[in-house]
Formats: sequence, C-alpha cells, structure tokens
Amino acid sequence: MLYLTEHLSLKEINRENYSQLYFLMRTIYPLAYSHFWTDKGDWYVNTQYSEENILRELSEEKSEYYYVVFNDEIIGNFRIIWDEKLEGLSEGKQVKLHRIYLHQKIQGKGIGKNIVSWLENKAKEKGYKIIWLDAMNEQPQALSFYKNLGFKYHSYIFLEYDLLHQHVRKMIQVYKIL
Ligand SMILES: CC(C)(COP(=O)(O)OP(=O)(O)OC[C@H]1O[C@@H](n2cnc3c(N)ncnc32)[C@H](O)[C@@H]1OP(=O)(O)O)[C@@H](O)C(=O)NCCC(=O)NCCS
Repeated sequence: MLYLTEHLSLKEINRENYSQLYFLMRTIYPLAYSHFWTDKGDWYVNTQYSEENILRELSEEKSEYYYVVFNDEIIGNFRIIWDEKLEGLSEGKQVKLHRIYLHQKIQGKGIGKNIVSWLENKAKEKGYKIIWLDAMNEQPQALSFYKNLGFKYHSYIFLEYDLLHQHVRKMIQVYKIL
C-alpha cells in the first residue's frame, strides 16, 4: 500500500486482486459516462474490463495499475504507462496516465489532484519530461480538472465505436511538461 495522504492510498492491482476491478467499473463508469452510449456503456465496460483484457494489460511491461483507496474503501482506479509516446510530440521521456476513474461520491475533494501530483513527482524523479492522457471532449468536468492542473491541448481523434453517440466521439490529447 502506498500512502499519498493519511486517508488516501494506492493499492497495486495484480493477478490476485484484479477481479474486483470489473465490479468497481460496473458501478463507477455509468455514473460518469452512461449518457455517451446507446447501451449505457455496458459494452465498453464488458470489453475494457473483461478478464482477458485486464490480464493482458497487467502483463504489459512498463505499466502500473492501481486501485485508489480512500478511508479503506476502494473508490477508483487508474493506469500508468511509462514510455508511451504521444504522436507528434517528440520531446523527452513521456508517461501516459490511462483511464483514471473515481467514484462520483468522492469527486471534487482533491483526490484526483493528489494522484496527478504524486505521478508528476514520481515521473520527475525518473527523468520523465511529459505526462499526457486522452480525455473525452464532451466531459467538461474532466477537461476543467486537467486545465486546472496545467495540462495543455495537443490534438484530437474520433473514436469509432458503433455504440457511442456521434456527438461525443471526439477525444482530445492533453499534456503537461514537467
Ligand atoms: C476527473 C477526475 C479524475 C478528477 O478528480 P477529482 O478528485 O474529482 O478532482 P479534484 O477534486 O482533485 O479537483 C482538482 C481541481 O480540478 C478542479 N475541478 C474538479 N472538478 C471540476 C469541475 N467539475 N469543474 C471545474 N473544475 C473542477 C477543482 O476545482 C480542483 O481545483 P482546485 O483544487 O484549485 O479547486 C474525477 O472527477 C473523475 O474520475 N471523474 C469521472 C471519470 C472521468 O471523467 N475520468 C477522466 C477520464 S479522462
């Protein structure tokens, strides 16, 4: 267990404890994104968080996967992928923050900020120069969060998932120089 504050800690997700992740995301994801999908996000959660996909992601070298624990309760998760490069951004060593999700009930209390700041420090210590991530353009809450933390717009792509509503398919890439 890695303590970021007295109440907030990170627990590494591994081959022994990954099965909770699917159930956690079945709860958290729809609260934030069900309105993006014609099936309320069922397909997305079932594929991204299938046993097969989680095990594949856990086996990826240079990646770390964490549960976010607040007052002994698992309330979120995220991944880090070291040396994942953002296309078109060549400078320095880069790390990607992948799919950070916190339960709606604890959003806006500084937990996300603490996690990004922890990652920034860890990345700096390891000689990394850039943190970047993907964010849905139609999720203003997440965009304000990254903007507030000093992330800058870089580029965009459109997701081609059939079940995703057309008007929310834009995903932007944002980055921060450390
Ligand atoms: C986006 C998310 C990770 C942010 O984490 P969080 O713990 O809720 O955010 P914090 O409380 O740490 O906020 C940090 C800063 O962002 C700002 N912020 C957070 N939510 C905001 C909002 N809705 N509007 C404007 N600013 C916001 C806060 O003002 C805060 O700045 P301050 O400390 O100067 O006041 C979290 O809300 C979340 O998981 N959302 C749902 C899933 C999601 O969209 N994930 C992102 C996938 S890319």
